[in-house]
Amino acid sequence: MSTAQQPAFWVGHTPIFGDLILSPMDGYSDLPFRSLARQLGSAMSYTEFVNAMDVVQRFHYTERRLTYTEDEHPVVFQLFDDDPQRILQAALKVRKLEPDIIDVNMGCPAKSVSNRGAGSGLLRTPEKVAEIFSLLTAELDIPITGKIRLGWDEDSLNYLDIARIIEDNGGAMLAVHGRTKQQAYKGTANWDAIAEVKQTVSIPVIGNGDVRTVTDIQRIKDHTGCDGVMIARAAIGNPWIFARQDRHEVTDEQVRAMMLQHLELMLDFYGPEKGLIFFRKHTTRYISPYRFNKEQRQKLMTREKPEEFLELLDEIVLTQHAVI
Ligand SMILES: Cc1cc2nc3c(=O)[nH]c(=O)nc-3n(C[C@H](O)[C@H](O)[C@H](O)COP(=O)(O)O)c2cc1C
Repeated sequence: MSTAQQPAFWVGHTPIFGDLILSPMDGYSDLPFRSLARQLGSAMSYTEFVNAMDVVQRFHYTERRLTYTEDEHPVVFQLFDDDPQRILQAALKVRKLEPDIIDVNMGCPAKSVSNRGAGSGLLRTPEKVAEIFSLLTAELDIPITGKIRLGWDEDSLNYLDIARIIEDNGGAMLAVHGRTKQQAYKGTANWDAIAEVKQTVSIPVIGNGDVRTVTDIQRIKDHTGCDGVMIARAAIGNPWIFARQDRHEVTDEQVRAMMLQHLELMLDFYGPEKGLIFFRKHTTRYISPYRFNKEQRQKLMTREKPEEFLELLDEIVLTQHAVI
């Protein structure tokens, strides 16, 4: 949790203490990972995105995705859909779980999402963005925010229009990933565009894309003037970035303690079997700076009991030293 005394910025009436935020990430920004990030300094908790259609149809998985702990406030539930009425229905329903903020995903490039006009597909229908924000802000009593990309492709860079539409229709904050849908995760994030958005709207703007080090945090802030910084990929296996500590400064003991805590949270949240399986993707990233052979990696990744996993981890990884 941030120790800052003054809010870094406000989302509507909600003060945000701290300028670093763990980005919403499908398959990663679950309760265990958010908790660790928050403990180290991430200022708010964005859930993994949730399909409004599934909320309305009461799919079981949505409940787990929207589970949070009391000390995670401010909590942001992120929804995606292409249908304004259905996203409203879903928002009203999840409002009962008392999030602080509801966020609309306008960035997901996955075909299954964007080709039906949801996620980054919404960038192609600005009139729907307007309708979604005007409906949600009229019907809900908590701030509604958006997370966007720069446009569908290089020929339709409409981020400034979309930003204005969101603000004009009551949006309380905007996170901008400086890439188009077509770029997916390729190329480099365009921080100039984020700076333009910051100059265009007066609601808080969160800069996002390619922040990998503590130096990058200051660089994107200086470059864009953004109010906060979202970090996604570089936080996996490296939650210390929220404490403004670079990975090479983290000791082997810190790595071990973090992995242990993370694994325990995963086992609690998902149960012993799934918890360990889901932890493997985090393990890969935590141990990436260590040098060890394929056979050892294979052995570690196939342990079926948490105690065997930890024993092996100590044996083959943390007896060595990080090589970064
Ligand atoms: C595995 C993965 C899952 C993601 N899931 C979401 C999501 O659910 N909602 C969202 O708004 N963005 C999602 N994103 C995009 C990130 O939040 C972020 O905008 C993007 O990765 C750029 O930031 P980075 O350069 O720090 O990784 C996801 C990204 C990754 C890599």
